[in-house]
Amino acid sequence: MSAPLRELLDPTITHQINQLDLNPGSRVLEIGAGTGHVTALLARAVGPLGRVVAVDDDTTYLKPSAVVDVYGRDVAVNPDAVPGDAESIDLVVARWPHHRLVDPAALIDRMLARLRPGGWLVLADVTDTRPRVHRADTSGDEDLINRVVRRLYDTTLGAGGTGRWPGDVEGLLHGRGMERVCLSAASETWTGGGPGCGVLAGIVDHARTTLRALGVHVDDIDYFQTVMADPHVLLRSIERRGLHARKPA
Ligand SMILES: C[S@@+](CC[C@H](N)C(=O)[O-])C[C@H]1O[C@@H](n2cnc3c(N)ncnc32)[C@H](O)[C@@H]1O
Repeated sequence: MSAPLRELLDPTITHQINQLDLNPGSRVLEIGAGTGHVTALLARAVGPLGRVVAVDDDTTYLKPSAVVDVYGRDVAVNPDAVPGDAESIDLVVARWPHHRLVDPAALIDRMLARLRPGGWLVLADVTDTRPRVHRADTSGDEDLINRVVRRLYDTTLGAGGTGRWPGDVEGLLHGRGMERVCLSAASETWTGGGPGCGVLAGIVDHARTTLRALGVHVDDIDYFQTVMADPHVLLRSIERRGLHARKPA
């Protein structure tokens, strides 16, 4: 995950985790741990007596420690790939472990199976509500923003909706008997030249190779950077979503 994307998404997951009174010594399972950024937050929260099991099929950036165990597993299809015993985990966390998931709802079921009664699930991602242009210098700029952002969303969220948690993840969790389901989604207005548009420009720059492969012209990617610095531009931001829910005790 790129630094700009992390900057955008960190407040949501931190807010979710801070709302749970996680005891020092808790056992945590993190799915799709990536660079270990959230893993480090979790390790601090559980302290030296706790344990964080970090799972990813690419463990290049994950470092085991006295508190953190690292598992290289592909959790997409095999239920046994999620480590741990049934009902043994105090908190399961998964921030946007997508891209190659075939069935995100099935992964939620596997995570719930690991949660102990009274344990918490925390999920986060971005929704498929795209940034909307409120104002741009020209209609050409507006078209360009929409075109590049549409491609970015196609690549990051997946055309079949597998690049994020299900749209009605709340309903799914209620259907599984989870309680205290609490979802928050946040978006705001970004101005060209401000931090939000800077983050979006950074994400597009980071995804340059993928966008080019999808047919976005290099000049459009470059001009997108210029437009995101134009103070005349006003956008509705990327929408972030975070959720926690408890398994009945
Ligand atoms: C967008 S990154 C998010 C990383 C991390 N959760 C974070 O928020 O910083 C998605 C991560 O999920 C992992 N991932 C995707 N599909 C996976 C799968 N089927 N099994 C295991 N890990 C997977 C990727 O390797 C990547 O590290």
